[in-house]
Amino acid sequence: MMNTSEYIATGKNHFAPTYAQLPLIIAKGEGCQVTDTEGNSYLDFVAGIAVNALGYGHEGLKSALSEVLETGVTHTSNLYWNTYAIEAAKNLTKLSGLEKVFFCNSGAEANEAALKLARKYGHAKKGADANKIISMKNSFHGRTYGAVTATGQQKYHKNFAPMMPDITYADFNDLESVAAKIDKRTCAILIEPVQGEGGIKPAELSFLKGVRDLCDQHDILLIFDEVQCGMGRIGTPFAFQQFDVRPDAVSLAKGLGAGVPVGALVIGNKAAQTFAPGDHASTFGGNYLAGAAAAYMTSKLQESDFLAHINESADYLKSALLQLATTYPNLINEVRGMGLMMGIELSIAIGPVIEGCFDGGLLLVGAGAHVIRFVPPLIVEKVDIDKAMAILDSVLKDC
Ligand SMILES: Cc1ncc(COP(=O)(O)O)c(C=O)c1O
Repeated sequence: MMNTSEYIATGKNHFAPTYAQLPLIIAKGEGCQVTDTEGNSYLDFVAGIAVNALGYGHEGLKSALSEVLETGVTHTSNLYWNTYAIEAAKNLTKLSGLEKVFFCNSGAEANEAALKLARKYGHAKKGADANKIISMKNSFHGRTYGAVTATGQQKYHKNFAPMMPDITYADFNDLESVAAKIDKRTCAILIEPVQGEGGIKPAELSFLKGVRDLCDQHDILLIFDEVQCGMGRIGTPFAFQQFDVRPDAVSLAKGLGAGVPVGALVIGNKAAQTFAPGDHASTFGGNYLAGAAAAYMTSKLQESDFLAHINESADYLKSALLQLATTYPNLINEVRGMGLMMGIELSIAIGPVIEGCFDGGLLLVGAGAHVIRFVPPLIVEKVDIDKAMAILDSVLKDC
């Protein structure tokens, strides 16, 4: 058995160097608290980057997954039906009011499905050159070629040219900019209702409503990327429900499986019949384990107590952050976000603050260059928020 530093050295030897990990191996967890292999405890406001929605050691999720393991079957492929994915799909359509679900394994793949859906829809409605997709500047949609092309940030494209053709970028929250990009070849507009990696920036209500109208006028699909902001993260099962703007398709992942990798594209009636057998597929998509996790998570999202808890904790976190911003007006430029997806924009480098919090026992992650992000498990309690704020306060005091 290797010790922690031997494991990390071995990881460095054998992993493709795509990440710059902190020297931490989480060994176990309960609620919002994790313990590393050295016995140190941390309060986790990263939650596996907005994934571990139910925190750690959640009894309900544990039994849903154990039930699958007990059967001896974790995967069968989509050559056959599986009851877990069927339950999850039923829950997702009930929660969203949309019609159909395609399961995959990640956020990027959910967006790939969305891009393919958009082009097939465009071809059917407007002809074979109706390929054009408009996404937003500063957006983030994942790392596969379609998703990274849709990502409106140059830094993610560098060294990987050529990108996918016919994706253009409009200014987020600027309706004129979107309208100016639309032409007869446009088949879809892709938007994160709350930009995540781009710095925790919520869309304006009038912007989303305006884009919805444009899509209706021009027969364009409106696709929301709710990979980060969906599944209860901002206080409603789907993020679009906060804005009361119905998209034609929504991509999901992260919180959907509460820690088990699963993604989904939920499709509304306009494009519900667009995909035909053979158009798109995933070997693993919605397999027994993933399906059971998604079925469990989507059943939780039907509990009003759970949603009330998220909203109460969100209000508490927001006031705590605003309070901190009043204490440190020279360090904190802005507090923004929705629900349990909050960010503080700092006037100083975020790296040392995140490191200071790490040393103090609080896990945090950035979102873009100047923003520290707060995406704790949705089961976070006020005491957890108090503890997190105390650690952050003590770090900011020294800045
Ligand atoms: C809004 C959004 N879309 C897509 C993705 C990509 O998800 P994944 O890493 O599961 O492919 C992310 C990941 O951070 C995201 O925040």
